[in-house]
Amino acid sequence: MNNFQYYNPVRIVFGEDQIQQLSKLVPTDARVLITYGGGSAERTGTLAEVREALAASGSREVFEFGGIEPNPEFVTLLKAADMVNEHNIDFLLAVGGGSVIDGSKFVALVSSLHDDDNVDSTVSRDKAWSALTSYCRDIDSAIDLGAVLTIPATGSEMNSGGVVNHSERQAKLPFGNPLAFPKFSILDPSKTLTLPDRQVMNGVADAFVHVMEQYLTYPVNAKVQDAFAESLLKILIDEGRAVKEDSENMEVRKNIMWTATMALNGLIGTGVPQDWTTHMIGHELTSLHAIDHARTLTIVLPSVLRELKDSKKDKLLQYARNVWHITDEGQDDDAIIESAISHTENFFRELGLPVSLEDAELDQSAIDPIIKQLEAHQMVKLGEHGKNDLQVSRRILERAVTAKAS
Ligand code: NZQ
Ligand code: ZN
Repeated sequence: MNNFQYYNPVRIVFGEDQIQQLSKLVPTDARVLITYGGGSAERTGTLAEVREALAASGSREVFEFGGIEPNPEFVTLLKAADMVNEHNIDFLLAVGGGSVIDGSKFVALVSSLHDDDNVDSTVSRDKAWSALTSYCRDIDSAIDLGAVLTIPATGSEMNSGGVVNHSERQAKLPFGNPLAFPKFSILDPSKTLTLPDRQVMNGVADAFVHVMEQYLTYPVNAKVQDAFAESLLKILIDEGRAVKEDSENMEVRKNIMWTATMALNGLIGTGVPQDWTTHMIGHELTSLHAIDHARTLTIVLPSVLRELKDSKKDKLLQYARNVWHITDEGQDDDAIIESAISHTENFFRELGLPVSLEDAELDQSAIDPIIKQLEAHQMVKLGEHGKNDLQVSRRILERAVTAKAS
């Protein structure tokens, strides 16, 4: 196992009817900006519950900013950051999924980036863009943030990262800064019952790929991380199938929600190599073709595993054995590995997710523009060994054009 420091200060408040805890969790004299997405939080009644809880005690002043898009847009977020300054907001409360939480983290980080000559002005677009292109890692102050999660998927509720999209620049860029950890996140699994099936399955797949990208590299004898990762994968397989069969089952919803949080709260990624190739290629697919985040991952992951099966051999065999229970029965290693990858692909298909570019109505001609974008965003040394250059990414995408027969 490699050396590591593990730090995660997020208070998780889990369970049904826990939104009322906001009256205790948000400082009583705060000037709060509630941030939300395209309207689901209003329609489902979650926003009303949030407003009520905030009004239940103290003397908070509450403002609202709606309209944060899936794959949150830089331009929209900067409007929210201006509102933070206009109303002297000192607490952001994100109500929504990964997009709203990520977007609010970005707002928390950039709202003090003014033009040098006018500190009372709107936020400097140039400074905010330049911060994003360097992962926001040099920002040294941020507004406090809390979250009410409405879709289990990204893990944003318990980590310090995010992803922001800039459509005009065709860039979807990740950032991370310890100041972006939420102070708390409320996880009420009953809030996920209003999700369309597509978003439920997207969430299961996103969490699954998060685990895979921290697990499927090479062994470093990290027994805790490996066993946790394998358990999370098995739970996602079981509960993904269960939610498809019985979508109202609260026990299933609870387990999916907590698993998705555990998948990307840093725990299974400590002290082990990681490979975020699938996510980095996936971000380009979203920014060029507006494909849902999770669906880009299910398109790319099987081809990443096939292309890199030699350097990932030991872990792929471990994955086959411990997650899919594939015993060798006289098969050679290659056959076992291919079987594990096919199982993965078939699981994604079972959930109704695409596993090839063709499934997303794209073909070979999609590849060149993706490679160009990877180059423009310096995604040229991906993977646990930093060896996945543009040629490797091209080969991965070529494999992903047509699905392998199941
Ligand atoms: O916008 P509204 O109207 O709220 O509708 C949303 C949206 O259309 C809807 N929704 C959310 N909760 C709902 C609901 N509809 C009905 N009932 C509810 N309870 O679902 C749609 C998708 O929401 P979104 O927040 O975009 O989904 P998700 O949580 O999957 O977030 C995806 C974003 O997170 C980023 C992705 O890149 C993408 O931009 N990621 C963030 C990560 C992180 N911070 O660590 C890691 C991930 O890898 C991921 O990259
Ligand atoms: Zn993801």
